[in-house]
Amino acid sequence: MSGQHRSGDLRSPHRNDDLRSPHRSGDLRSPHRNDDLRSPHSNGDLRSPPPVMSIISVNNLHKQYDKNIILKDVNFSVNKGEVISIIWPSGAGKSTLLRAINFLEPPTSGEIFFEGIKITQKNLNLIRQKMGMVFQNFGLFSHLNVIENITVGPVKLLKTSPKEAIEQANELLKTVGLSERAYHYPKQLSGGQKQRVAIARCLAMSPDVILFDEPTSALDPTMVSEVMAIIRNLAKSGMTMLVVTHEMDLARDISNRVFYIDDYAIYEEGTPKDIFIYPKKPKTQSFIFNIQSFNFEVFSTLFDYAKMIGGIENFCFRHAIPKKTSINLQLLAEELMMNILVVKYPECKLTITYSEKLDSYQLSVSYYGEPENVIDNATDDLSVMIIKNLAKEIKHQYVDGKNVLTLKL
Ligand SMILES: Nc1ncnc2c1ncn2[C@@H]1O[C@H](COP(=O)(O)OP(=O)(O)O)[C@@H](O)[C@H]1O
Ligand SMILES: [Mg+2]
Repeated sequence: MSGQHRSGDLRSPHRNDDLRSPHRSGDLRSPHRNDDLRSPHSNGDLRSPPPVMSIISVNNLHKQYDKNIILKDVNFSVNKGEVISIIWPSGAGKSTLLRAINFLEPPTSGEIFFEGIKITQKNLNLIRQKMGMVFQNFGLFSHLNVIENITVGPVKLLKTSPKEAIEQANELLKTVGLSERAYHYPKQLSGGQKQRVAIARCLAMSPDVILFDEPTSALDPTMVSEVMAIIRNLAKSGMTMLVVTHEMDLARDISNRVFYIDDYAIYEEGTPKDIFIYPKKPKTQSFIFNIQSFNFEVFSTLFDYAKMIGGIENFCFRHAIPKKTSINLQLLAEELMMNILVVKYPECKLTITYSEKLDSYQLSVSYYGEPENVIDNATDDLSVMIIKNLAKEIKHQYVDGKNVLTLKL
């Protein structure tokens, strides 16, 4: 069997008969993949698109430890051939999500389906064989050498003959570039090598999907790229993967979908372009564009004006914003808040945001009431003139009873 294995194909030799997902055109992966419609339904009948087969379906997943909520109502499906990156900058729960999917940590509530079958304690072992996992800390057996680490699963669980398992392991070691290390023990390997062995071990089980839990985060920076290269090749080969990572380059390059997680669930999802270039929701934008912000809330016309101006100056200083910009922001805030907004709306909020990546500065104010652009209706002509001179763009929006006036510098 191992003789059929093409070099350069990182997948296990059993895997050449797969059905690749037909919905991938336009994605970032290699172009030869898009014409590969082997579904029996794809017989040229354009009216009935082939059904997309979902490998994993997560329905209303909820996980908590005692009162500590980690995941709340998480829903998604992973289709065959998809590579989904999960980025999760704030809070914790990355490992918990992957561990809940393969029931290493059974969900508190919710259901997980694997290839249409609901995962239960009873079918769990069989399903785990098809759902490989690569851990942050490699998880190799320290008392077994590299070949033994790779062959133990196929021999014990898949009843592959030892001879065949060894042949297959040697093929896999070739593809992860570690043939020379076959008889070394984990302690004789670098972190990057250990992780490559862990990937080979996972592939030896011919999984239908691989879950990667921050596969490069425990590595020395010099070793990150060797492991990323293997993961990139796997993605190209059509392996279905769910990758939790903080390597944004990797996520951008290999995925067809990216999940941005916050507030205990998928906060925003989209193609790498949607998430990394045109994120729509505030927390995603704030993370992707590294947006820093300064907020000041006002509750009456007698608010502490000096504190607001001092706060802006301090914020600009901390973020090394040029002096001239800092002065302009202070002036804008003074004219808009003091002379126009607070006199009419004594309860309001000022926000200044700055993104070094976008090289942009923005000052916005929000206030509740009827829809009104206070600059248009202002009677203080001098203030209006100063504001219009300083701001390149002024935009008024009204959502759910709240006015938001955004000034771009
Ligand atoms: N078995 C457990 N029992 C109780 N709390 C846990 C357990 N596993 C993880 N946690 C808690 O759940 C949170 C998320 O953990 P984890 O998913 O490992 O975070 P991450 O992988 O994002 O660093 C942490 O606060 C952790 O302390
Ligand atoms: Mg973790």
